[in-house]
Amino acid sequence: MSRCHNFSAGPAALPLPVLHELQAALVEFGDTGAGIMEISHRSKPFEAVLASAEARLRRLMAIPDDYVVLFLQGGASLQFYMLALNLLGDEGAAADYVVTGTWASKALQEARRVGDARAAWEGKAVEYRRLPTDQELTVREGARYLHYTTNNTIYGTQFHRTPKVSVPLVADMSSDICSRPVDTAAHDLIYAGAQKNLGPSGVTAVILSPWAQSQSRQTAKALPGGLPAMLDYGVAVDNTSMYNTPNTFGIFALERVLAWLEGQGGLSAMEAVNRQKAERLYAEIDRSGFWRPRADKADRSWMNVAWRLPTEELEARFVKEASAAGLKELKGHRSAGGIRASLYNATGLDAVDALVGFMREFERNNG
Ligand SMILES: Cc1ncc(COP(=O)(O)O)c(C=O)c1O
Repeated sequence: MSRCHNFSAGPAALPLPVLHELQAALVEFGDTGAGIMEISHRSKPFEAVLASAEARLRRLMAIPDDYVVLFLQGGASLQFYMLALNLLGDEGAAADYVVTGTWASKALQEARRVGDARAAWEGKAVEYRRLPTDQELTVREGARYLHYTTNNTIYGTQFHRTPKVSVPLVADMSSDICSRPVDTAAHDLIYAGAQKNLGPSGVTAVILSPWAQSQSRQTAKALPGGLPAMLDYGVAVDNTSMYNTPNTFGIFALERVLAWLEGQGGLSAMEAVNRQKAERLYAEIDRSGFWRPRADKADRSWMNVAWRLPTEELEARFVKEASAAGLKELKGHRSAGGIRASLYNATGLDAVDALVGFMREFERNNG
């Protein structure tokens, strides 16, 4: 077997022991006599998978008992609209957004379809190199919520604190969920596409506080005919994520990834490794003037490390030669260019060391 060092931004590397478990379960799951994709979502064995996925996520993230956990489809991109519809839809209420990159900007665009949504901070003028302080956020007094993106996958910035504001906090944690402990209870809604730190694409974890649940019910009541069933958090809550057929394989894979995370020692242990991985790579990037880090130091992401080389030609050569050396998916997002190494939970220190070794040699040859 020749698996590469995979720095993909998502779908991304998964832990090898989990892949082996999935491989086996595809053919034969437990004592069902069938594969995991071949059994009913209403069967007892699958219900146990779903319950275990929820229980593990609750333990890992210290989710308060009165919050609900959902596993939905449609990706984080559907949540951009769905959360706004549920939280703002009843009377065109207002919400504020911290625009720290492409995904935050898309979330804001979708909310504008529903209500009075605006930017509480816009980072475009600083090319999304840094994040705002709390003092820089202009949150309106009547805003229903403030939305922010904890980790900016494309520009490589990450909040290393939870913003302190006086309105409910909504977070897109797609690219750093379960990479470190967070103050879950400080948020009213958290969502994340699974395909970076939690499993395969096609499952989205959504966590709702009691306020978010009741606001959603209020919206459904206020709208003539209610909310569309598939876009109604209340319907998903009442049916424990099974109003329709969920992504059974995706939820199973997510459950196995969460079991692996617990086996690693949970999120504090992941934080220690993730910090170490990022520090090693940033130390190399800062070592000489050859590499040009994209993000300001204080706001650098531990998950997506983005940098540039002196010319685009060198960047293309870097990506090509790295790939030939077994270091894959290092090309920056198509909208941002440059180089990006994604270091999610399943990417080990060995991958970072291999990358740093390659970078030293590349600089010797091209610097
Ligand atoms: C921070 C963030 N939010 C949202 C998305 C969109 O996710 P999805 O493809 O699941 O809709 C991405 C995708 O990379 C992302 O990185």
